[in-house]
Amino acid sequence: MSDSEATLSEKETTWHRDIGSVQSLAELNELRVKYLGKKGILSNELRAIGSVAADQRKAFGEQVNEARKRLEERLDGMLRLLQQKALAAELHREPVDVTLPGLPRSRGHRHPVSQAMDDIIEIFARLGFTVADGPELEWDLYNFEMLAIPPDHPARDMQDTFYVDMSTAPPPPPGSPPPRGAQSSLLLRTHTSPVQARTLLAQKPPVRIIAPGKVYRCDSDVTHTPMFHQVECLHVEAGLSMAHLRGTLDAFVKGFFGAGTKTRLRPSYFPFTEPSAEVDISHPACEGKGCRLCKNTGWLEVLGAGMVNPDVLKMAGYDPEEVSGYAFGLGIDRLALLRHGIDDLRALFENDVRFLQQL
Ligand code: DAH
Repeated sequence: MSDSEATLSEKETTWHRDIGSVQSLAELNELRVKYLGKKGILSNELRAIGSVAADQRKAFGEQVNEARKRLEERLDGMLRLLQQKALAAELHREPVDVTLPGLPRSRGHRHPVSQAMDDIIEIFARLGFTVADGPELEWDLYNFEMLAIPPDHPARDMQDTFYVDMSTAPPPPPGSPPPRGAQSSLLLRTHTSPVQARTLLAQKPPVRIIAPGKVYRCDSDVTHTPMFHQVECLHVEAGLSMAHLRGTLDAFVKGFFGAGTKTRLRPSYFPFTEPSAEVDISHPACEGKGCRLCKNTGWLEVLGAGMVNPDVLKMAGYDPEEVSGYAFGLGIDRLALLRHGIDDLRALFENDVRFLQQL
């Protein structure tokens, strides 16, 4: 072993020992610069090559380079060790108590109107009805005309709503049914009954659908909001009578409010049904005995119903001699209120969670 070789390996032992006793990342970095930097110890060592005999220079150079490689590995190893120590210390500073119970998360629930809507759909599904859908922005044709409510019919006044200014309206989307002349303006549908017309055109009897959804009217007070929810029921088939209407109504009301609930029909008028009826149910809160909420009558008016007007069937291409039908429509929001004993409809749409959480 030559002199210079022995010296280098002795020095190397010292360097490695110094690296081993480093306590912090900053110190380690200082050592890295000290040994491996441009003006560092190893560069210095290599410079001594000038004083080495010519035939030993190659070997000398190789020794210095190997020493450099070992130092690099040692420094990297030490770096990993210090990083692990730092992480362990960090974890120890904030100990986690895995035995503590978790924080409960409140899960929320469906809006009372959605709850009522889902219940209604379920009851009708059991009776063999499927759910049909229609647009909220509706043609006059379906909202009025095809329900036997021509222009200037007084029934339009009771359902004033929001019309689209057709002079600035964009052209109807492709595939939407072409409007027939002047009657076909667009409006926010005033009831779910236009789904009757749409379904009659799209299906063949037997037709058995319900159509829940949003409807709009120019109305706003304690018992009216400009937007509210209805569900429409339509059954068209050969041989249907008022008895079928009563039976379906009865099954629905009992399913929704309870087996003890009674129904009663009073004569009424709707252009699209003939004959027509208002349907009352025995007040669930007082079980029909009479209270302040039902004005001591024991009854509450909840929906409109009737036998489908033969003109409506004809307009949709059916022969009223062959098939007949019954239909009814009701306000879902009012049913939801009734269920919970609330008397202000607006509370349903103000989105105050303190109120909604209670339902
Ligand atoms: N569409 C009516 C309304 O909003 C409710 C209604 C009455 C619907 C009688 C019907 C029906 O299907 O037969 O006032």
